[in-house]
Amino acid sequence: MKRIKIKDLLQSDAVGSEVLIKGWVRTKRGSKNVNFIAMNDGSCLANVQVVADVNNFNEETLKEVNTGAALAVKGELVASQGSGQKVEIVATDIEVIGGADPDKYPIQPKKHSLEFLRENAHLRFRTNTFSAVFRIRHAMAYAIHKYFNDKGFYYLHTPLITGSDAEGAGQMFRVTTLDPVNPPVTEEGDVDYKQDFFGKATNLTVSGQLEGELGATALGEIYTFGPTFRAENSNTTRHLSEFWMIEPEMAFYDLKDNMDLAEDFMKYLIQYALDNCMEDLQFLSKRQQEEEKGKKADERSMELIEKLKFILDNDFVRLTYTEAIDILRNSKPNKKKKFQFVIEEWGADLQSEHERYLVEKKFKCPVILTDYPNEIKAFYMKQNDDGKTVAAMDVLFPGIGEIIGGSQREENLEKLLTRMKEMDVPAEEMDWYLDTRRFGSIPHAGFGLGFERLLLFVTGMGNIRDVIPFPRAPKNAEF
Ligand code: 4AD
Ligand code: MG
Repeated sequence: MKRIKIKDLLQSDAVGSEVLIKGWVRTKRGSKNVNFIAMNDGSCLANVQVVADVNNFNEETLKEVNTGAALAVKGELVASQGSGQKVEIVATDIEVIGGADPDKYPIQPKKHSLEFLRENAHLRFRTNTFSAVFRIRHAMAYAIHKYFNDKGFYYLHTPLITGSDAEGAGQMFRVTTLDPVNPPVTEEGDVDYKQDFFGKATNLTVSGQLEGELGATALGEIYTFGPTFRAENSNTTRHLSEFWMIEPEMAFYDLKDNMDLAEDFMKYLIQYALDNCMEDLQFLSKRQQEEEKGKKADERSMELIEKLKFILDNDFVRLTYTEAIDILRNSKPNKKKKFQFVIEEWGADLQSEHERYLVEKKFKCPVILTDYPNEIKAFYMKQNDDGKTVAAMDVLFPGIGEIIGGSQREENLEKLLTRMKEMDVPAEEMDWYLDTRRFGSIPHAGFGLGFERLLLFVTGMGNIRDVIPFPRAPKNAEF
């Protein structure tokens, strides 16, 4: 007999027919005569209830039916007597595929803290919360590919191991096969990377952008979607050492085209979640509300689904860095020195407290900040005519802060070279990149969306380590 997934079973009209399901026991309760077994197979949030008449099964089998055990259950699908579910299975046959010792299985049918589940990340997929999060993660990854494919963008795979460390996006992880105790050294006493695996020093990539630009200046519109690595010692709820980034790069786009794409893209993804993940979103909304019960009313998050719809219904506010600095300088928390970093003058880098003030207090809406001082942005950004700002854009989201960073790129070879010199970016190592500006150079633009920051927003989870299956963070690389 062919197994049916619980999601399909709950959507089917198969009452009266015989079905076979396979999955894991969430809970078992019962009386002397009947056992009620809640089964889940990961295909959806909902469990299906299995009713087992104790007299029809041998005692040994039922004893092995514990939380966490894997079962194959055959039986008749009937309309449910109890509340909470439309249908249930009256079991005729129960096979224990894999038992789970109830004294040792860590995921008990009770509320576990997120910290406990992080320590047991290898088993946390078996909880409602994490199965919901990772189903949504899948749906968002699919939606990203669908969005770009439908628009004629090509998915370009950029390398994870890179010989350039010039992007400047963050500290890098070295990739080497040299003996860490006795590496070969040059006459000057430095480590001799000529003798390393690739014949040069290599690192894990912090971004696929520079290679992405090579693709865009031939294929037109491309995107990358892959893991990136940053060795910063940032132990926050918004940073990972290994995170996934989506980086579209588009020929013939200026900054405005770039902003329009970013806004349309974010709205598409949120709409996709609402259209395809409602059951999981409703569950996560309830979870968040319960978690925030103890908080004061003005510290509680907006209800999750309402918050997602709010994004769809409103235009993102667009303003320049210079306008933002004026607003921040005159803001209450700045005047009362409530910000940890008080904004004194133009040129200051914005911290997440400032970004969140703009988004959550001032505009109560996503904000796209543009035209930042060149001093605080990467060398490749297009220089504005004022000589001090660049055509950068950061998209700021409520509860998150920066979710997207991007810019129009400098297409003028001379200007780019000058900037590289000023910022100590080694032009000799970047010859391959500069060729895009030597041959058929064009205006182009792109941005990077942090996949896990998107997921924080869509799921309402509070810690970025809870939206990636196996988080990597300082002092943390389990599993
Ligand atoms: O602003 P970033 O550093 O931009 C770039 O890497 C550009 N090369 C993108 C481009 O123009 N193609 O990073 C982009 C986004 C951030 O806005 C943030 O959402 C996410 O990546 N991000 C992180 N997410 C999790 N953990 C970290 N340590 C992150 N650092 C950046
Ligand atoms: Mg950034």
